[in-house]
Amino acid sequence: MKRNPGKQSRRKANWARAVRAAVLAAVVLAAVVFAASCSDADSLGDEAVTEVQVGTPPLWSNGIGELMRLKCGICHQVPAGEVSPDGTPQSFDLNYYNAAAHPDGVLGAQDSTARTNITSGILRGPVGSIRQMPLEYATPLTEQEKTALEAWAGTGAF
Ligand code: HEC
Repeated sequence: MKRNPGKQSRRKANWARAVRAAVLAAVVLAAVVFAASCSDADSLGDEAVTEVQVGTPPLWSNGIGELMRLKCGICHQVPAGEVSPDGTPQSFDLNYYNAAAHPDGVLGAQDSTARTNITSGILRGPVGSIRQMPLEYATPLTEQEKTALEAWAGTGAF
């Protein structure tokens, strides 16, 4: 059989192009997955991620729960999570609505500690020796999110 070097090198070039395309696709896919996982899971950083929209009246079920999990619960979890700083209170967990909802019966967001501190102004400045929340290096709350949390805490935290 007669060899056809031209055809063979064309085939090689096609193969190389296919490999390059596959590698590029994999890199793009990895970047997209990485970006997506950052945007909703990561609540540490300088800039507010997309503002959480809370319904009226503000309820745990229509936005407050999502907001707390995203911007408070990353630190306020029991047992302490990877990014919970030393000194994070272990008496309450802001990923849960109340003690009945927590697997270990630890207090939740509705129970008095978080609620009374929010109505005392902890989202706007220190309350006694407790620093403003979230801590300064964590993703800040938008004004609308602060107002929603305060309204929720002040109107029964349902
Ligand atoms: C980056 C971690 C982090 C984030 C995010 C965070 N906190 Fe805190 N929080 C702490 C630490 C640490 C303390 C302990 C007090 C201190 O260090 O000033 C604390 C204390 C508190 C306390 C006082 C508890 C007590 O014993 O009286 C409340 C209430 C609270 N946080 C609510 C919140 C709320 C609500 C949010 C979200 C809007 C939030 N925190 C976000 C780390 C965090």
